Amino acid sequence: MALRARILGAAAGGGLPQWNCGCGNCNLARRGAIPPQTQSSLAVSGNGTDWAILNASPDIRQQMAATPDLHPTDLRRVPLCSVLVTNGDIDHVAGLLTLREMQPFALCATAGIHDVLRANPIFEALNAEVVTRRTVALERPFDLAPDLTATLFPVPGKVPLYMEGETVETGLVGEQTVGVHLRAAGQDAFYIPGCAHLSDDLRARLRGAALVLFDGTLWSDDEMIRAGLGRKTGKRMGHMSMSGPDGSIAAFEGLDVAQAVFVHMNNTNPVLRPDSAERAQAEAAGWTIGQDGMEIAP
Ligand code: MLT
Ligand code: MN
Ligand code: ZN
Repeated sequence: MALRARILGAAAGGGLPQWNCGCGNCNLARRGAIPPQTQSSLAVSGNGTDWAILNASPDIRQQMAATPDLHPTDLRRVPLCSVLVTNGDIDHVAGLLTLREMQPFALCATAGIHDVLRANPIFEALNAEVVTRRTVALERPFDLAPDLTATLFPVPGKVPLYMEGETVETGLVGEQTVGVHLRAAGQDAFYIPGCAHLSDDLRARLRGAALVLFDGTLWSDDEMIRAGLGRKTGKRMGHMSMSGPDGSIAAFEGLDVAQAVFVHMNNTNPVLRPDSAERAQAEAAGWTIGQDGMEIAP
């Protein structure tokens, strides 16, 4: 038995190409010149038979169809035990609506994220008789699937975009945005698809890790503004960027992480182009750029 992690979707919200986006990367993906990527999700298993999905993206139907390990094993039954959501963002919860077809599973999240889901009555479509809502406390290991345990920990972030008020705290540390520490067969992996800042606590937690899948939303903080696509920086969206002195590549230096993999890439991120200088720079620093369908073993 071994820990298996398969990237179901490597892109951030919107995917590559995003439906309404005419940016360079989206046009290249539409033409088939670079590989398209679906929205943020990871499948994990501790025994190769029983699976959990971390974040239910709007593309989950297509992602499951493309993943033989998740295909039905019986009439109306797939080998899916749990779905865990790391925040309430649309790209991480909208796929729950696709999973409403009487498949039993545990929907795992912190109390704070469950409150967000409960505030949206559309999620009652997940019949409570078959889908158990499981509240998970921070820092307490729990069984995510047979032979697979998980521990949730707080990561600096913010409330979902659709819950933002007049003022937004982008470095909130609590139950709204979490990372996942997975353990199976003596192996560990960390999954952190959204992170505003690599705090000293987080650095200590990740030091020496065998595998970290980490927020790769943007290459540079003002990339969307410079591309003429919006007014928000990465920081305002609750995401640290890859490059620069405050970036994740610099922040991971010296942490001794054996495998560092970027996930949740926004469609503007130049690393999505296999021949880009930015991709070469990330890879030279030891990072892997996640791709749909990529399987990574710790
Ligand atoms: C994010 O990762 O910042 C969110 O998914 C943005 C969104 O909800 O569109
Ligand atoms: Mn997102
Ligand atoms: Zn685009």
